[in-house]
Amino acid sequence: MATSVNGFSKLTKQEKITWLATQHFKNKETGIEILKQYWNSDVKLQRLHDEFIENTVSNFYLPLGIAPNFLINGKYHTIPMAIEESSVVAAAGNAAKYWQKRGGFKAEVLGTEKVGQVHFIYPGEVDKLKTFFSQVKQKLFDATLGITENMRKRNGGITSITLRDKTEDLQQYFQLHCTFETKDAMGANFINSCLETIAKTFESELRNSELFSPKEKEVQIVMSILSNYVPNCRVRASVSCKIDELVADKNMDALDFAQKFVRAVEIANIEPHRAVTHNKGIMNGIDAVVLATGNDFRAIEAGVHAYAAKDGSYKSLSKASIEGDVFTFSLELPLALGTVGGLTNLHPLVKLSLEILDHPSAEELMQIVATAGLAQNFAAIRSLITEGIQKGHMKMHLLNILNHLGATPEQKAYFTSHFKNKTISHNEVIAQFNALKEEDDAHVPK
Ligand code: MEV
Repeated sequence: MATSVNGFSKLTKQEKITWLATQHFKNKETGIEILKQYWNSDVKLQRLHDEFIENTVSNFYLPLGIAPNFLINGKYHTIPMAIEESSVVAAAGNAAKYWQKRGGFKAEVLGTEKVGQVHFIYPGEVDKLKTFFSQVKQKLFDATLGITENMRKRNGGITSITLRDKTEDLQQYFQLHCTFETKDAMGANFINSCLETIAKTFESELRNSELFSPKEKEVQIVMSILSNYVPNCRVRASVSCKIDELVADKNMDALDFAQKFVRAVEIANIEPHRAVTHNKGIMNGIDAVVLATGNDFRAIEAGVHAYAAKDGSYKSLSKASIEGDVFTFSLELPLALGTVGGLTNLHPLVKLSLEILDHPSAEELMQIVATAGLAQNFAAIRSLITEGIQKGHMKMHLLNILNHLGATPEQKAYFTSHFKNKTISHNEVIAQFNALKEEDDAHVPK
């Protein structure tokens, strides 16, 4: 059972590990050895990782995979993906190849507006506040000039500040709702610094204003923070082709495939249980690229799911349609991404991932990430409505099962070929592995 500890963050790395081992590891030596096995031998590189967060004891690996052949707006992209789920990179690669032969993916950015809010309580007359706001608004912009200087040089900055009366939802609650353009930066630090300055200026100007009574001057700034809900920072990715170009599989003709595909998306649109899994499949592609490029996947997840629920019930992020003889499949979602600042300049693999993507702008990255999500969704639905998901999934998962069983490289090669084109079950692999092992053991000379 865990015990409490004081001043843990002040301990050295080695002291933290010793505490951890004493408190939590059954076999201390083995536990410490595992933690150290994942340290980088390059001391400088390890220190860089140690300093990303507090209380670092080791590194936590995720595979970095590559999905090539993504034809987006007529240009080829090789997409880096950081993810642990066996079938995701393979599915991306397959979808990329499939659409490469059918005109590729189209992607367009629909907006790049970021949002931040100052939340405050004002115990007075609303009309006075409105008058005051119109008087002080320019001062709020001016107070941030020092912070916004560099961003303005790049045509970014604060694009609007509006006063929002939210008193119908919560007593005395108002907001300064601010919008921003942050160009190639995700902009979290920039936005939060602007908001805190705006809040301070607003509060002090209000306290010094003749307009308000002493009671009204008791305005309370509750918090100033960016919003990860950015419905106007949105991107659309799509694919489209003639229905008879959709070769499905042996048991289904192209029109049946297209119709069943549209049905599957319609189901996700009206049934939240299915919508969540459907969108999870999209996020398999999105998160993997977001992570590989050093972006904040929690922010993306939160914003995307809020967007999926914007109409009052949780819906599919993608749409599919048949018009005449044309099949179209598309995905629209908010993505606030950066290709400069944050981890992008620090983490060597993030830098390399951005190099693999030919140093995209934030808008280009939005298009690439949305395409990865659409590709993943296409691959999942295609499997689900034809052969089922397990065949491909278990094929990719086979190596995990064999590794778990301690298989040798020869045994892995044997079983990979043995199970080719078969639907694999966990129990079946174990049974066949044990049978082979018994056979091998019987042949070892005694
Ligand atoms: C698994 O990670 C993702 C899927 O469940 C997505 C879906 O059902 O559409 C295959």
